[in-house]
Amino acid sequence: MSGKVTQMIKEEDVDSRIKELAAKIDEDYKGEEIFIVCILRGAAFFACELVKRIKAPVTIDFMQVSSYGAGTVSSGEVKIIKDIDLSVRDKNVIIVEDIVDTGNTLSTLRDIFEHRKSKSVKICSLLDKPDRREVEVDIDYVGFSVPDKFIVGYGLDWDQRYRNLPYIGVVET
Ligand code: IMP
Ligand code: MG
Repeated sequence: MSGKVTQMIKEEDVDSRIKELAAKIDEDYKGEEIFIVCILRGAAFFACELVKRIKAPVTIDFMQVSSYGAGTVSSGEVKIIKDIDLSVRDKNVIIVEDIVDTGNTLSTLRDIFEHRKSKSVKICSLLDKPDRREVEVDIDYVGFSVPDKFIVGYGLDWDQRYRNLPYIGVVET
């Protein structure tokens, strides 16, 4: 495993796209309070940048679900490792994720938050890898659509490495 990274989306482009997403969210929610659920660990960088640019009142909480571990192939199983601490009852929830791959994680999370009687549930993902979809899932806000490659940077890791890259890259394994 070499792990050489090639830049795919530069930092300035990621930042300006996040600004656009925040503006779109503000336009859609019209000043109503928003409850951001950040999916750890990958979405943390994206969620912070996004939340800083939203003007509506925002609450943020964090949840961790099972992910790839050291491999690069999804197991198709979703397990809650750390749940949010606050109640989402009657709240406008936006689940913020780093990337939608098979769709298993987000379709399960959407069900979980709908069962918790939130007022609304939307999904916002920095990246979308549509070629690998196994489960249909509506993504309300997407930063960029990416090809079926292993993506790192801006919070996304390859065996815990490369989260700190300020741009989005592709790792050659
Ligand atoms: P899904 O359930 O298959 O949609 O998987 C989504 C999760 O897999 C994401 O939250 C990421 O943690 C991880 N993942 C999927 N593709 C990539 C990738 O290209 N790079 C890094 N992590 C990925
Ligand atoms: Mg993840």
